[in-house]
Amino acid sequence: MSPQDQLKHAVARAAIEYIKPKLTPDAVLGIGTGSTANFFIDMLGELKYDFAAAVASSDASAQRLQTLGIEVLDCNAVSELLVYVDGADESNPNLHLIKGGGAALTREKIVCAVAREFVCIADESKWVDILGRFPLPVEVIPMARSFVARELVKLGGAPVYREGVITDNGNVILDVHNLQILNPVELETKINQITGVVANGLFAIKPADVLLLGTKEGVKVIR
Ligand code: A5P
Repeated sequence: MSPQDQLKHAVARAAIEYIKPKLTPDAVLGIGTGSTANFFIDMLGELKYDFAAAVASSDASAQRLQTLGIEVLDCNAVSELLVYVDGADESNPNLHLIKGGGAALTREKIVCAVAREFVCIADESKWVDILGRFPLPVEVIPMARSFVARELVKLGGAPVYREGVITDNGNVILDVHNLQILNPVELETKINQITGVVANGLFAIKPADVLLLGTKEGVKVIR
């Protein structure tokens, strides 16, 4: 396992230990997408008799959960998720995040919105002072792609069409480069207001509640 994967494995283990005391037989969990979330999903099999079911932020995660024998529910069948566990592409010290490197950002935002608590798991390469080194993913209705790209340029970004990628919702992704995001809440709000945008990868209006950050010195718990 690479050193980075060892850190991802460690934060996944920390998340298992974090949620274990909270689980109840009727609890439904929100489960994210990506390589760090995959480590978590694989460990979640150990706890599968301690909670009821899961809602997944992507078809890929849903399949992985089902393979372990964990029931996956439609989000519409659930009024609240006990907790949402997912990775991130960047986090700043306020636990404002960039997500969507795996193109699952819209469903991730929905799962996050329904969850009582968002537990983010990430290795230390994701920790930044200022968000924006990682290009900000924006999910866009295909017909609006060029219009939205022009509007994003007006906001100071350099959008790049993620060619060949169609989201689970049938939309496309623009990755916005060259942003130095000094006010994540403001930028998240502005991008949401562009017609044709489905969602953007900033999680600042509703940031993570806790970040389990994998470092060489151990897993840090940041609130
Ligand atoms: C998926 O769309 C993303 O938001 C992921 O959570 C993010 O890209 C982190 O992925 P890794 O855990 O693979 O780095």
